[in-house]
Amino acid sequence: MQRLIIQGGNKLSGEVCVQGAKNSALPLLAGCVLADGETKLHNCPALSDVFAACRILSCIGCKCEYDKGSITVNSAGADKSFVPDELMREMRSSIVFLGAVLGRTGECRLSFPGGCELGPRPIDMHISALRQMGVKISEEYGVLDCSCAKGLKGAKINLSFPSVGATENIMLAAVLAEGDTVIYNAAREPEISDLAGFLNACGAKVSGAGTGTVFISGVDKLHGCEYSVMPDRIVTATLMGAAAATGGELSLLGARVGDVRAVIPVFEQAGCQVYPYEDRIFISAKKTLRAVKTIRTMPYPGFPTDAQAIVMAVLTKARGTSVIVENIFENRYRHVDELVRMGADIKAEGKVAVIEGVKNLYGASVRATDLRGGAALAVAALSAEGETSLTNIRLIDRGYENIEDTFSRLGGKIKRVNY
Ligand code: EPZ
Repeated sequence: MQRLIIQGGNKLSGEVCVQGAKNSALPLLAGCVLADGETKLHNCPALSDVFAACRILSCIGCKCEYDKGSITVNSAGADKSFVPDELMREMRSSIVFLGAVLGRTGECRLSFPGGCELGPRPIDMHISALRQMGVKISEEYGVLDCSCAKGLKGAKINLSFPSVGATENIMLAAVLAEGDTVIYNAAREPEISDLAGFLNACGAKVSGAGTGTVFISGVDKLHGCEYSVMPDRIVTATLMGAAAATGGELSLLGARVGDVRAVIPVFEQAGCQVYPYEDRIFISAKKTLRAVKTIRTMPYPGFPTDAQAIVMAVLTKARGTSVIVENIFENRYRHVDELVRMGADIKAEGKVAVIEGVKNLYGASVRATDLRGGAALAVAALSAEGETSLTNIRLIDRGYENIEDTFSRLGGKIKRVNY
């Protein structure tokens, strides 16, 4: 087992390259199944979730090679359609392979992805959309048996909620389907636009990505391509949080200001200076932080739920009272108890968390409860007095490349130890 030992108190400073986006690399890897021959994805982060996706690709017959941030996928042998349970459970987003495998083979057998980390992770929208596209789906004992002997058919699909995963799954199923598909109330996250860009580079016909209505005209085949994954907007928000929490200043190379337009004002309200440039974002936190107006997590372009824990960690030492309303997931405050162990004054009930700024946080033994909650604890520990031991960090490794290396290069006192 490993843990992070963090000695708080240092101001972070310097410049750092923002890693490729986990939540784009995963659907793009699934999309490689649909492209004949070889596809090369650049700027892929070295994350356990990315390697788990490569294991799923191998399981269905693709060849995957990871080399210094690029993944080459050869789908020539992709003729299998079963994803074993242990692979499905490794990450929630494994469900996005369903649309791709159906598009490639016309059938797919996989178990429900894991749940409970952030609350139940239903896939009802995925299933009802695929059924509208002609897929027969039986659900028994947690296993989905899916087939579309006559091939996938284009459909007009209304999502009751702009689900990111469901939008991605439908796009992946629709690009090789017969006829046209329209997704109404589609997710508008930048990862959707990245997936559309990748699929179109493979010869697909996708338009409207990034808006609430996505149009896909089915084509007969897709070819391989070379494509670069977008920068990770949640890692960008995490690094901004680390600068704010430690009173430092960072230059985030490769960060795209358009992806964090809802996050920047929160840091500015808290008292940070944020200067967006063409190819980077500069943030400086020289002043004592102050509480901000109520933050409500919303689908993009609203405030991202994935940045909620990070910003909460920053606000624990902001003078005054801040309120966060978590509207996307039912159980996304599990990091609160851990922050309270460090001296934070937070009350969470239902969707609402009230944060009373305290003068100091103190190092403690804390445990990552989920990916972004774990990153939030690391940010809090960097700003705390004394030493923090942070365990269960495999959850952090799912989304952050070498988090200790990133923070120590910027002046943080943090190391990974076995125990
Ligand atoms: C994606 O998850 C991201 N994961 C999540 O990031 C992110 O928090 C989420 O989108 C929202 O932005 C990846 O991209 C791999 P949803 P996803 O479908 O697709 C409910 C991280 O930390 N819902 O938009 O699962 C669902 O329960 C992760 O990187 C249904 O009810 O999110 C949730 O309450 C965490 N039925 C809400 O919609 C469905 O069929 C949003 O889910 C699908 C979703």
